Amino acid sequence: MPAVSPVHSRVKVSAPGKLFLLGEHAIVYNGICLITAVDSRLYMTLEAEPSTKQILTITAPAVGLDHWQHPLHEIAETNQVSGPASFIASCVALFHRQFPFNVSLKIETASDFAATLGLGSSSATVATALFGLSSLFGVGLSHRQLFDMGVDAIQQVQHLGSGADLAAAIWGGTLYYANHTPREIVPLDIPTLPLMVVYSGQKAGTVNYVQQVRQLHDSLPHIVPPIIELMLTLVEEGRPALENADWPRLGQLMNIQHGLLHAIGVDTAPLADIVFQARAAGAYGAKLSGAGGGDCAIILITPAEQQLLSETLTHAGYQVLPLSVHATGVRLE
Ligand code: MEV
Repeated sequence: MPAVSPVHSRVKVSAPGKLFLLGEHAIVYNGICLITAVDSRLYMTLEAEPSTKQILTITAPAVGLDHWQHPLHEIAETNQVSGPASFIASCVALFHRQFPFNVSLKIETASDFAATLGLGSSSATVATALFGLSSLFGVGLSHRQLFDMGVDAIQQVQHLGSGADLAAAIWGGTLYYANHTPREIVPLDIPTLPLMVVYSGQKAGTVNYVQQVRQLHDSLPHIVPPIIELMLTLVEEGRPALENADWPRLGQLMNIQHGLLHAIGVDTAPLADIVFQARAAGAYGAKLSGAGGGDCAIILITPAEQQLLSETLTHAGYQVLPLSVHATGVRLE
């Protein structure tokens, strides 16, 4: 295959984080979910440098990488980098196989949000790496091509994942996402969501929680699969509620999803505390968002009531994140 050449010496790109509105965990079982992109972004600069020894250099302070280096041909041949460089290396390997190139690459990342918040930093990294490479070498990959390659890159590293986070990072906005083959990604036209995002102060590994739920699912086949089915019904009913700005209904469905997530063991005392405080303050609904075991809770609440709840939760030691949703997907900066 002929080598591609860079059409720019340097590009800067970014991708948003994400929050699950409904359907986390259920999405893993060929399910459906509602997911929205948040305006907290991961930035990536990619530089091509002519050189005889082609090297990949990564600087990503958020995950402790400072001038991490590896020969590119080894990455492309084996795709077996482990540790914090693995997501970027996996993207570079997959891209290089399809579009071989003969330059050194320098990649630097910076983020608006800490990797510990559970806002999908790995997927934003994959989205920016592939979109950045596509832009640097001018190969013009479509969103769908970026997505398909990104799903493979994530599978190589984690061996699991629904791809919903990645879809949110690439398309942005708010999506109805169906995890069957081929995956269905439907951008939704939604009214402004009155949503508060609160960090519960703990970080848990998504992979562990997905595996833990899988074990429960397989060991209690008469109990957990019906819970997953119910979660899917919540997504089906949640979509029109979201599109029609029926906040009381959407809030009710969010409350039920939180209860079901609690039932499958991914709730925590701080998340439950935030959810109960939100409900006591008059929220339409509140739930944990994502894998659980920590990370963030989301609260659907009128703007008028947000200020007071924000003060209460901050006083209780939680971090209210000033995020807005329905953010733009992957883009050139
Ligand atoms: C994690 O952000 C969301 C899960 O549904 C896992 C996944 O979608 O891959 C728990």
